[in-house]
Amino acid sequence: MTPRTVIITGGGTGIGRAAAHRFAAQGDRVLVVGRTAAALEAAADGHDRIRTLVADVTEPGAGEKVVEAALRAYGRLDVLVNNAGTGTFAPLAKLDRDATQQQLATNLVGPAFLAQAALDALEAAGGTIVNVSSAGSLGIQGFPDNSVYWATKAALNHFTRTWAVELAPRGIRVVSVAPGVTDTGIGERVGMSADEYRAFLDRLAERIPLGRVATPEDVAWWITTLADPAGRYMTGAVVPVDGGLSLT
Ligand SMILES: NC(=O)c1ccc[n+]([C@@H]2O[C@H](COP(=O)([O-])OP(=O)(O)OC[C@H]3O[C@@H](n4cnc5c(N)ncnc54)[C@H](OP(=O)(O)O)[C@@H]3O)[C@@H](O)[C@H]2O)c1
Repeated sequence: MTPRTVIITGGGTGIGRAAAHRFAAQGDRVLVVGRTAAALEAAADGHDRIRTLVADVTEPGAGEKVVEAALRAYGRLDVLVNNAGTGTFAPLAKLDRDATQQQLATNLVGPAFLAQAALDALEAAGGTIVNVSSAGSLGIQGFPDNSVYWATKAALNHFTRTWAVELAPRGIRVVSVAPGVTDTGIGERVGMSADEYRAFLDRLAERIPLGRVATPEDVAWWITTLADPAGRYMTGAVVPVDGGLSLT
């Protein structure tokens, strides 16, 4: 079988890195994309099937740059994982315009134009787009102090459902994986101290029916599985991977 080719944005850390390792372990070829060369190189270290590209998904032209790099390296594109994401805690009264635009650009605009740039290659391969959203975006509950982040993730799920219908005639599937609380260190990258992040994880773990927060590998399994060609009859689904938290 021809090895498949996978682009993973935010593939240098956390869920993206775990997904890159899982795709590579099953024989796929991966391009990990992010803004920090050292993180990407660490993710690729010891993995012949993983290459790296430094790119900022928020920049105009980033989609073309990323897809061209994947095609140049591997000659085809089977899976696009829109995983790069960012969030900034703030109540409405304290919303910062730059931080708001950064979240919209990273979590929504970037994925849209990367997917657009990938369409022809994905069509040629009968490929799949996996958008990584968030289980918090699934219900009707509000999330005080985090409205922009969850609005972007809810909108990303609407991208998934809408693109699934638009792209079905071209043979491209589109799904969302919606992780629950996952211990990737993301809390510290969005402004919490290490102690605050640990306390946040412990507090949430008490509410999770399966009794613990997720590991990046728990989520990566679902990303690789939903992208598997054997799952060819699923499109437009938003799959919660949250230990049951969104049901409580
Ligand atoms: N951890 C959780 O509890 C959780 C829960 C629900 C959903 N999620 C979602 O899961 C995804 C992965 O998160 P994670 O927890 O694994 O956190 P993470 O390790 O912080 O991953 C985010 C990745 O995105 C990259 N990134 C951010 N902005 C970028 C940009 N403009 N261009 C290119 N790459 C960019 C970051 O790398 P650089 O900074 O080097 O660019 C980083 O590798 C995110 O979409 C997140 O919203 C996480």
